[in-house]
Amino acid sequence: MAQTQDQSESNPPLESSVATVCEGWSTPLTLHNNYWLRSHTVSKFMLVRDNFKPRRDDIILATQPKCGTTWLKALAFTITGRGRLSFSDHPLRTDNSHNLVPFIGVQDTGGDLEHLETLPSPRLLSTHLPLSLLPPTISTVGCKVVYLCREPKDAFVSRWHFENKIITGGAPPISLDDAFGMFCQGRSPFGPFWDHYLEYWKESLARPHEVMFLRYEEMVSNPLKVVRELACFLGAPFTQEEETSGVAQQIERFCSFDSLRNLDINKTGGTDSAGGKISLQASALFRKGKVGDWVNHMTKDMGETMDRLVDHKFKGSGLEF
Ligand code: A3P
Repeated sequence: MAQTQDQSESNPPLESSVATVCEGWSTPLTLHNNYWLRSHTVSKFMLVRDNFKPRRDDIILATQPKCGTTWLKALAFTITGRGRLSFSDHPLRTDNSHNLVPFIGVQDTGGDLEHLETLPSPRLLSTHLPLSLLPPTISTVGCKVVYLCREPKDAFVSRWHFENKIITGGAPPISLDDAFGMFCQGRSPFGPFWDHYLEYWKESLARPHEVMFLRYEEMVSNPLKVVRELACFLGAPFTQEEETSGVAQQIERFCSFDSLRNLDINKTGGTDSAGGKISLQASALFRKGKVGDWVNHMTKDMGETMDRLVDHKFKGSGLEF
C-alpha cells in the first residue's frame, strides 16, 4: 500500500534502511548513493562519475524517465542539426531519438564511455542519472544541461504503463497499487524522483545560464515557445530568415507526438531499454502524450497522497507542481 505523508516523514533515510534491493518493477532495483538504479546497470553507472569526461561544449539532456525524454531528445537533435539535416531524409525518420542522442554510460545507445571520447565536439548527450552521480566537473567545465521534469502523478502513471509493457518472461502485471507504493517511497528507477528533481532544480537556480529547467507541461502547452527558448539556450537562436521561413514551426511539428508516433520506425521498430536487458517496441515510448492523464488511472485518494508528498518534499525549494 501507498505510504501516507506522515509515514514517509518518519522513515529513516534510504541509505540506512535495511533493504537495498527493491523487487516489484520489471527488473530489480539496487540502492546506490541514495538512488534506486536497475540492479544490472549499477556497475556501469558507477563508472560514470569517475570516468566520463564532460567537455565545455557538451550539451547534456537530463531527465527523470517518463518525463518526455524521447521528445526532448528529438527536439534538441533537430534544433542543433538544422541546416545540415533536411526534414525529408531526417535521421529521426529511420532511427529512434534514443539512438541518436546516446545515454551516457549505456552501451546500446552508443553511450559507452570509451566511445563517447571518440565523438567530435560539440556532443549532444543524455542521462537519467541524478547530478550527484555525474562527475562534479559538470558544474565547473561550462557545459550546458537541459533538465526536463513532469508533474509527478502523470510521470507515475506513465511509468506504470511502461513497466507493464516491458515485462518479459510471462511475469504477472504490476498492479497500480504496488507501483504507487514503491513510487511514493522513492523506489522507482532513478528515484526518489523528488531528490532527482531537486538536485537539478537547485543547480538551475545557481547556474541559470548553463542549466535550463523545463517542465513537460510547459512544452505541451506552448511547444513553439519552448523550441525557440531551447534554440537560444543551446546557442543557436533562430535567425530572422529562419523565422520568416517558419523553421521553428517546422521543428515543432516534426517532433510533435503525432508526427513522431506515426513514423514507421516508431510504429513498428524495436528499441532497447534499461541497458539492453529489456527489449520493447518503440511504440511503447509514445502512449498518450497528455497532461493530466493520472485522473483516468489513480483514485482521488492516491492523487491527494501524492500531492501531499510532493508538497512536503518540495517545500521551501521554490519548485511547485
Ligand atoms: P505518456 O505515457 O503519459 O503518454 P520518456 O520519453 O521520458 O520515456 O517519456 C514518455 C512520455 O512522453 C510518454 O507519456 C509519451 O507518450 C510522451 N511523449 C513521447 N513523445 C512525445 C512527444 N513528441 N510529445 C509529447 N509527449 C511525448
